[in-house]
Amino acid sequence: MTVKERLAAQAAEVEVYIRERFGARMRERGVPEGLLSAMEYSLMAGGKRLRPCLCLSFAELFGAPRASVMPFAAGFELIHTYSLIHDDLPAMDDDDLRRGRPSNHKVFGEAGAILAGDALLTEAFGCMSRSWPAVAAELVLPALAEAGRAAGAAGMVGGQMLDMEFTARQGVTLAELAHMQALKTGALITASCVCGAILAGAAEDGISRAREYGEAVGAAFQIVDDILDEVGDAATMGKPVGSDREQGKSTYPSLVGLNESRRLAGQRVDAALAAIAAYDGPAADFLRDLARYIVVRVQ
Ligand code: IPE
Ligand code: IPE
Ligand code: MG
Ligand code: MG
Ligand code: MG
Repeated sequence: MTVKERLAAQAAEVEVYIRERFGARMRERGVPEGLLSAMEYSLMAGGKRLRPCLCLSFAELFGAPRASVMPFAAGFELIHTYSLIHDDLPAMDDDDLRRGRPSNHKVFGEAGAILAGDALLTEAFGCMSRSWPAVAAELVLPALAEAGRAAGAAGMVGGQMLDMEFTARQGVTLAELAHMQALKTGALITASCVCGAILAGAAEDGISRAREYGEAVGAAFQIVDDILDEVGDAATMGKPVGSDREQGKSTYPSLVGLNESRRLAGQRVDAALAAIAAYDGPAADFLRDLARYIVVRVQ
């Protein structure tokens, strides 16, 4: 199996969990049908499921049964999906296509999209908490704190704020761009890795390795996202091409050009590989393949 096929197989595993546990529970709890439809519309529209996959792989690397970590891993996908819904809103990137479908607000209106995002974010933490009791509360609690920090004001949301501020400003430096991307994209990807390690009861060194890998992979991932916004294919990616340029966003290609962007992404992949060089076995090999795949991906 290629790494893309292995990623797809894990994505399918995550989707089974989300569909069976999350959707069914929401219905039992009497969530308004209009809200649930808007949540499921974006959540079940495909997507690479990279963040859950990283969480599960780090958990496996440090010896946790995958099933025990699945609720936590799925929670990352809920947070990520909310971030995409809000990212596409007219007040933010104003994009009309996501995961191969009209963006959430195009179908459910802006209020529906905002509320679907709010609900996915909030429900994510309940979903994650269901990794207890299969995983000890002493491990689930610090992982929840980590995920909350990464998604919050000094993490993803802070990064999205800087992204908006930079869009209206000339002369953004490469260091500022890297910092913004480390927050808007890197933080959640890093937390996915770190929480997998925490939930498996990894020692401090293992958790630091997961963090280093996540930061490097997160940086490479967003550089490639910027590159694909210039040279990608909208039908393959399921989202618009040229949106960053149209809005005057500061991106890696706009600051340093495509070739230098590719070189910098490659450097971050090398850093990710170095971070986990000491580990062997199938999970470590998969994490290596995944890091390499991130820079050659076309979607
Ligand atoms: C897109 O994330 C938004 C970024 C943080 C760059 P993904 O490329 O992981 O999107 P999906 O989940 O596969 O749709
Ligand atoms: C998205 O960055 C980051 C988050 C959603 C937090 P982008 O705005 O570049 O993502 P895409 O390109 O729309 O997927
Ligand atoms: Mg954006
Ligand atoms: Mg966007
Ligand atoms: Mg982008």
